Amino acid sequence: MTFADLTNERYSSRSYTDEPVSDEDIVSILEAGRMAPTAKNLQPVRVIVADTPESIARIGKAAGPYGATVALIVVADASKAWVRPQDGKNFGDIDASIVTTQMMYRAQELGLGSVWIGYFDPAVVKEAFGLGETEEVSAILAVGHRADETSSNHGNRKPMSEFASRA
Ligand SMILES: Cc1cc2nc3c(=O)[nH]c(=O)nc-3n(C[C@H](O)[C@H](O)[C@H](O)COP(=O)(O)O)c2cc1C
Repeated sequence: MTFADLTNERYSSRSYTDEPVSDEDIVSILEAGRMAPTAKNLQPVRVIVADTPESIARIGKAAGPYGATVALIVVADASKAWVRPQDGKNFGDIDASIVTTQMMYRAQELGLGSVWIGYFDPAVVKEAFGLGETEEVSAILAVGHRADETSSNHGNRKPMSEFASRA
């Protein structure tokens, strides 16, 4: 499968079967995230694996992972991330997004579904998983065996003419 195939075929799955994701696949997905580039290679990101009904329930109802059997909680530590001197911008969230994206595409390559979840109560998740003061949950990636065949937005993107332009 080429990268073009992966990017064209991936969609956000919002329905999953009960079939568990193998430990081997989970580790392989985590490995894709671990290899992600980060600003100045400071690696301020870690991932918490919630793959039991109890640990998934701790995320809270607002962030229900659509019945997925695995939720990867992507945490960025602002105190460890690169800060751009010109404007003080902290790159932790950007680093965490690359980690999440790489895991999302590795899941796709393994034939698994996923959906990136940004809708959750950060205070609830932070407390539930005992995050440090400078840590923030950047994303939750739900992963599992798909029970749907597409999403309403699959392939629904603005045209290239609006997306890119020559300077
Ligand atoms: C940063 C980010 C946050 C998202 N948060 C949610 C979410 O909370 N719940 C949800 O169902 N989908 C969420 N999504 C999935 C998007 O809605 C989805 O990617 C978009 O509609 C395009 O559809 P597709 O992924 O099927 O191509 C999120 C995606 C991104 C990149």
